[in-house]
Amino acid sequence: MVNAKLPYKVADLALAEAGRKRIDWAESRMPVLMALREEHAKRQSLKGTRVAGCLHVTKETAVLVRTIVAAGAEVAWSGCNPLSTQDDVAAALAAGGVPIYAWHGMSVEEFYWAIDRTLDLHPTLTLDDGADLIFSVHNRHPELAKEVVGGTEETTTGVHRLRAMAAAGALKYPVIAVNDAETKWDFDNVFGTGQSSLDGILRATSVLLAGKNFVVAGFGHCGWGCAMRAKGQGANVICTEVKPTAALKAVLHGHRVLPMDEAASIGDIFITATGMKDVIVKRHFERMKDGAIVCNTGHYDCEINLKDLEALTASVREIRPNCDEHVLRDGRRIYVLAKGRLVNLAAAEGHPSEVMDMSFANQFLSLVRLAQEGRSLPVAVHDIPEAQDQELAGLKLKTLGVGIDALTEDQIRYASDYASGT
Ligand code: ADE
Repeated sequence: MVNAKLPYKVADLALAEAGRKRIDWAESRMPVLMALREEHAKRQSLKGTRVAGCLHVTKETAVLVRTIVAAGAEVAWSGCNPLSTQDDVAAALAAGGVPIYAWHGMSVEEFYWAIDRTLDLHPTLTLDDGADLIFSVHNRHPELAKEVVGGTEETTTGVHRLRAMAAAGALKYPVIAVNDAETKWDFDNVFGTGQSSLDGILRATSVLLAGKNFVVAGFGHCGWGCAMRAKGQGANVICTEVKPTAALKAVLHGHRVLPMDEAASIGDIFITATGMKDVIVKRHFERMKDGAIVCNTGHYDCEINLKDLEALTASVREIRPNCDEHVLRDGRRIYVLAKGRLVNLAAAEGHPSEVMDMSFANQFLSLVRLAQEGRSLPVAVHDIPEAQDQELAGLKLKTLGVGIDALTEDQIRYASDYASGT
């Protein structure tokens, strides 16, 4: 077991220089967050706060961490997935003085050990992606909750769980649902997941997508992004859904919609993006074609039931990085990418910096809001204010050199005039 007293734990500090270059690259593509860094470094908006973060250790996250530190906070960090840490980035953060506990390929036990080390900081603010840190405070270290002013949550799955916790009266401090900002879910979840998931599939397999039957389980924003990008590559997209409105949207996007029981036998590539467990199970593996590729882009690794696959498997070998070949007893081969964990982060680099720019600007501004008014916020899951969404989108447009129109006074009056009609 790892030593509990280490100031940081990463795979290899010698990777720091490579990580530093990656972070420089990301900083050059995250102008909104960098502008916030400049402003809040001057204001020291987070001075006196202690921020524990549990979020994928990527080059984009490093830009967020450095921004939080620049604004005056004390920080401790862990990754939020055992396979998503970029070891060079973790090394660069450790070399820069950040207490970070993250390495690629950590076990589940080490994962919770790392979270516990960040809690040694006695945080006043928590920042989550998937809610494992906030659950750790509530379930394993409840004595720490009273010191916490508030938390933020990055992802759909985490927000669902926190809303359930709040409804059950179990939540102990206010949380801001960063995921539910329009400048997060309508960009990161769609365009980020679409591009990075295909990137992960291609890095792990290098297969031709054109002409393939590409099955997307779940037509929420993440599934929508994957389907859109796969279609753009010439794949025949098949969507599976449980929600009628989502299925209908998939149909009107021009995708074929089938139950998974039917899609299983015709798919060449399967990606799950549902947030639900047991989306692909034994009876689906039993029908799959020889050579089928299976992966997941949902937060947890329970969407594909790998125990079911193991029960059918005669032998397994890693045929390429992040690509395990399961030879079944009947001779068929099924390929599982990134061990059923987030394919975009485990087999590629996660969403591109340009899109994380807005997601993490929302994270940062939410921490500032909590630092300023957290003690007066009711214990509940809070949305990002609409004004913040519009401000961030406006800033992003400016950095892209895109101008837009403004309503005239007369148009503003017209917008609220319920008396005028035909
Ligand atoms: N989630 C998806 N992509 C990510 C990235 N690049 N960094 C951090 N979290 C992410």
